[in-house]
Amino acid sequence: MKKEGSGVPAKIWKVDPSDPDPRAIEEAASILKSGGVVAFPTETVYGLGAIYNLVEAVKKVFQAKKRPMDNPLILHVSSFSQVSELAVDIPLEVHELAKRFWPGPLTIVLPKSARVPREVTGGLGKVAIRMPAHNVALKLIEAAGAPIAAPSANLSGRPSPTTAQHVIEDLGDAIDGILDAGETLYGVESTVIDLTSRPPVLLRPGSMPVEEIEKVLGVKIFIPSFARGLGEAEKAVAPGTKYRHYSPRATLILVESRDTINIEKVVANIRELATYHLGLGKKVGILCTDETRDRYLDIPAEVISLGSRRDFFQIAKRLYPSLRTFDSKNVDVILAEPVEERGLGLTIMNRLRKASSQRILV
Ligand code: TXA
Ligand code: MG
Repeated sequence: MKKEGSGVPAKIWKVDPSDPDPRAIEEAASILKSGGVVAFPTETVYGLGAIYNLVEAVKKVFQAKKRPMDNPLILHVSSFSQVSELAVDIPLEVHELAKRFWPGPLTIVLPKSARVPREVTGGLGKVAIRMPAHNVALKLIEAAGAPIAAPSANLSGRPSPTTAQHVIEDLGDAIDGILDAGETLYGVESTVIDLTSRPPVLLRPGSMPVEEIEKVLGVKIFIPSFARGLGEAEKAVAPGTKYRHYSPRATLILVESRDTINIEKVVANIRELATYHLGLGKKVGILCTDETRDRYLDIPAEVISLGSRRDFFQIAKRLYPSLRTFDSKNVDVILAEPVEERGLGLTIMNRLRKASSQRILV
């Protein structure tokens, strides 16, 4: 198996997302079984997988991503019966949630079983589990014969990969292979909820809106301020939240409104900031929406619209690729607009705040 940064490019298998070539799946699975690490698509973003109980392989995942060892990994299952191998004291609601949302972008945190190595959970007594809604991922887990531990397949701190090309950019020579099934559906990670406390706690908003999960649970989910991307959490609560995340190389400045969004003020402020940074000789990028795009076209900046302000699915999906596009154009400063914090808007605002170096309230 390959050493970190060996300079040897990863093997790439191009596969059909709905009906992947069984030989590619078998080859990738056999690399996993012999302790290698392979990137694969899910419906959210690409993951970097290792078989969950091969501790050396799990360590390679952390090394390849340069991820701090105390930031735990999600375990991906292909059948509900695997949950009882990984978790104990499973509350009844888990069955309800799984019935409604799995396979799909919901990750559930439960008390871990003794089978799960501490390396996987960053030393925590809890384990995060999800069943991805992607045929390539499900077939890979089945062929590997065991749950697969997989964080997003990006370098730690970078925007998550929504294409195999992004994985190659970040990790190409540090991993053994990549199953390339094209662009992912949601383009933003799964929603993570902790079911070990009452009420359940949102650890990370994601592509499954909290409101949908609340309908099944019949209770309000507690949303701590770190889940909105504000402040930082203690390690024991939500380990991934204490590092800067999802970040482009450019400095991202997020312009927000104090209460309800006043888009006129936001636009005026972004225009002023753009002029200021251009005056300093910086290359400026503006991350806007279809409704506001025309308001920036007279400014000599790279302007990217994420889509209509009424289409959070599209905005969430285009966010990471757009941040990477700004990087490829060597933009120094990105100025970004806010969206309302409901449904997927909560997820978008979490990612924007965590990617930002500065937030401005207008
Ligand atoms: O959509 C996704 O969730 C993607 C795909 C590949 O499945 N995976 C992903 O993994 O985003 P990662 O490692 O980038 O993010 C996992 C998040 C982190 O915020 C981590 O702290 C949290 O889940 N997490 C994992 N295990 C946990 C645990 N035992 N307790 C609390 N949080 C946990
Ligand atoms: Mg990640």
